[in-house]
Amino acid sequence: MNDSSQLDELLASRASDSRRLIEPCTVVIFGASGDLTSRKLIPALYHLALEGALPTPYRIIGFARREKTDESFRSELRTALDQFSRTKPVQPEVWKSFSENLFYCQADISDPAGYEKLAALIRSSEHEKLRQNLLFYLATNPSQFGEIATRLSAANLLHKEEEGHLPERLVVEKPFGHDLESARELNAELVRHAHERQIFRIDHYLGKETVQNILTFRFSNGIFERLWNRETIDHVQITVAEKIGVGSRGGYYEESGAMRDMVQNHVLQVLSLVAMEPPVSLEAEAVRDEKVKLLKSIRPLGSADLARNVVRGQYFAGEIDGEPRPAYRSEPKVNSKSNVETFVAMKLFIDNWRWSGVPFYIRTGKNLPVSASEVRIQFKQAPNILFAAKSAIPLDQNSITLRLQPNEGITLRFNGKVPGAAIQLRPVRMQFSYDNEFGAYTPEAYERLLLEAIAGDATLFIRRDEVETAWGIVDSIRSYWADRPLTNREFYLAGTWGPTAADELLSNDGREWRNPSPQK
Ligand code: BG6
Repeated sequence: MNDSSQLDELLASRASDSRRLIEPCTVVIFGASGDLTSRKLIPALYHLALEGALPTPYRIIGFARREKTDESFRSELRTALDQFSRTKPVQPEVWKSFSENLFYCQADISDPAGYEKLAALIRSSEHEKLRQNLLFYLATNPSQFGEIATRLSAANLLHKEEEGHLPERLVVEKPFGHDLESARELNAELVRHAHERQIFRIDHYLGKETVQNILTFRFSNGIFERLWNRETIDHVQITVAEKIGVGSRGGYYEESGAMRDMVQNHVLQVLSLVAMEPPVSLEAEAVRDEKVKLLKSIRPLGSADLARNVVRGQYFAGEIDGEPRPAYRSEPKVNSKSNVETFVAMKLFIDNWRWSGVPFYIRTGKNLPVSASEVRIQFKQAPNILFAAKSAIPLDQNSITLRLQPNEGITLRFNGKVPGAAIQLRPVRMQFSYDNEFGAYTPEAYERLLLEAIAGDATLFIRRDEVETAWGIVDSIRSYWADRPLTNREFYLAGTWGPTAADELLSNDGREWRNPSPQK
């Protein structure tokens, strides 16, 4: 056996040792009459049931204040599923057995008696594991997370995991705090009642196949990773663009803005996967250690950088695909003088050996021309010695684009010769498309995340130090903006790529944004 096959065998046995069995589990959803439950969580759980991925047996209990019976809860969810299920029609047999596992616990989050009622319902199960292996999904207002954990603990439903004890887990939705201080307080409150390894902080981007594929692409191929550094890469662009405006979410958005809503979590998560060092294994802690290390290597922004390298914007009325869009300040529940940013672009540096001197340009915004998320790795230009004299067109820089959504896939762009007697060059593309390669397999991020949480694997969830480091980065920018009202230059027309300062961020460096196009 050669060295590399010995190593493969060793690693494979380590992986199978650590593979967890999915035990029978009771999932309790707090905030069960909310939007997230009917739009995302129940459709995801239904699909897991459809694929036979849920443990046998399982139970799902909705906990909420509204008056409902098990029957009315089930029939409301059935109606919602008809609307939100990613596969249609809903399979009657699957729904029948799925719905028999759905229960409703009507109670107020602040009422201790509600938790006694929940405990009685959980204890009523005949299956021992269903009474012990508990997953609490907090799909409520974040201000209630601490209280729920405290009350669960008081009702003897949440314990700090001990050896031999089946763990109870808490899954918490974003936003996790609204700044570093509040995230720290919330963390401190939760770890009073549960160990860090029992807390699963959701960032749904990590449930996306294409986001998970970033690590596979980088670390399972012999050709790309060795190019992944300052020697060959000129710069990296990360774009998370949305065509939608804030719509009915004005109240929430006024408190968050693009920085808290998208940068603190999704964008920095994608950045950390693109730029992190290889982990020592694919175990949760090994992967998360590397992500934290990366976030900690982001160069802190001094006041000169904040003025120069960070651009914010807010949309005003415009048009997308012939449809009029109101200005942000005219959206429902938005202050007519709001200074909240709906667009952010910035240039960051990662001060480590691999990335020293390589700019990372990131941007995200609402009411942009397309909905598309992608990472573009822009390589340094080849020396244009040979072709400069023959062809008037400058050489295109090679690039790799990881298309996270839509048109999920990867594009490698390089120069090719245009057929003919003249020496003419043109960029050409090699494409990998998920759809062509694997068929239209597009599980929702929540399906994967719920399954991982049920299995107790925290790799795809955010660890405490990750969330706090990300807040540190975002807070420094937000506090710089706090007493600076938006200036005219910071507004952009709905349906455009943000304020002109975002373009200048790159053009000042002799570069330009490569805008994703949905037709690719
Ligand atoms: C959410 C944000 O976390 O992510 C929303 O709160 C945003 O504002 C959404 O629209 C984007 O998610 P996706 O999966 O559609 O890219």
